[in-house]
Amino acid sequence: MDMIVRPRRLRGSETLRKMVRETRVDKASLIYPMFVMDGRDRVEAIDAMPGQYRYTVDRMGEELDRLAEAGVSSVMLFGIPAHKDPVGSQAYAPDGIVQRAVLRAKMLHPEMYVITDVCMCEYTSHGHCGVLCDHDVDNDRTLELLAKTALSHVEAGADMVAPSDMMDGRVRAIREALDKNGFTGKPIMSYAVKFASSFYGPFREAAGSAPSFGDRKSYQMDFHNRREAIKEALLDVDEGADIIMVKPAMSYLDLVREVRNRVNLPVAAYSVSGEYAMVKAAAAKGWIDEEKIVCEMAVAAYRAGADIYLTYYAKELARFIQEGRIG
Ligand code: PBG
Repeated sequence: MDMIVRPRRLRGSETLRKMVRETRVDKASLIYPMFVMDGRDRVEAIDAMPGQYRYTVDRMGEELDRLAEAGVSSVMLFGIPAHKDPVGSQAYAPDGIVQRAVLRAKMLHPEMYVITDVCMCEYTSHGHCGVLCDHDVDNDRTLELLAKTALSHVEAGADMVAPSDMMDGRVRAIREALDKNGFTGKPIMSYAVKFASSFYGPFREAAGSAPSFGDRKSYQMDFHNRREAIKEALLDVDEGADIIMVKPAMSYLDLVREVRNRVNLPVAAYSVSGEYAMVKAAAAKGWIDEEKIVCEMAVAAYRAGADIYLTYYAKELARFIQEGRIG
């Protein structure tokens, strides 16, 4: 056979395959999304996300201990308040659920990097991501509240804020509010490319944040669009974002790559609740190999260009990395 180039040569052994590997994963780039709720001494299982829980602030230490032990160094906090109202006032209350959780996390684990999700949907009685004007979210009035929320998070000690509301101009509004108050060094990770996706279903159960009417299509992106993803990403770069996120991950890896090629900031991919739920459900049926699927999904996100990976499987992945089962 007259064949000089044989790609199989480099696949001959595990040692060689590892040597020529193009994508490597690192625990330091994992972020674990965590739910904290008002109340006392409770840990509640989330039905649609087996293995995930809501913690009251006094019990969140248990999970932080497990994360630290697994080698996960960053968390993203989502708050579930006891009280909701039309203007989401618990989102920016100085003693709101996230503000208290940040304080506690920093007290228990000062080395843990604490990021907060900045949005209104968990806090508004109507479940939309901002204040309403008639039946639509009022963009510019919402900006003030988002800025106030982000500021209250960093005042409580958050290391980074991550706006997920998809209002126009929110990165700039938050940047200005933080800078004006002396927090020029606190980075913003923008959910810049966030689609109106059915993959968020289990999260909305977990956070009790489903909209009470309509949907999020007037602010989150239409999933048929690709050029618009670049437009959103570049806009947020101009507004002062430090990290650009693409969300969901698995069905949107084309956009992770495209954003990676177009911006010079770190890119994050968020493997969302629906992705987690699908893997868990199929694994429970014995239809897939959970560990292998989780590793393959993670590597695919990094291969697509993600520098940072947000996942409910962060602890497991950190362990797989530690044990050399992925990498
Ligand atoms: C808040 C927010 C959502 C998610 C992250 N931040 C829900 C939504 O936009 O409806 C989804 C996360 C997940 O599904 O894991 N706006």
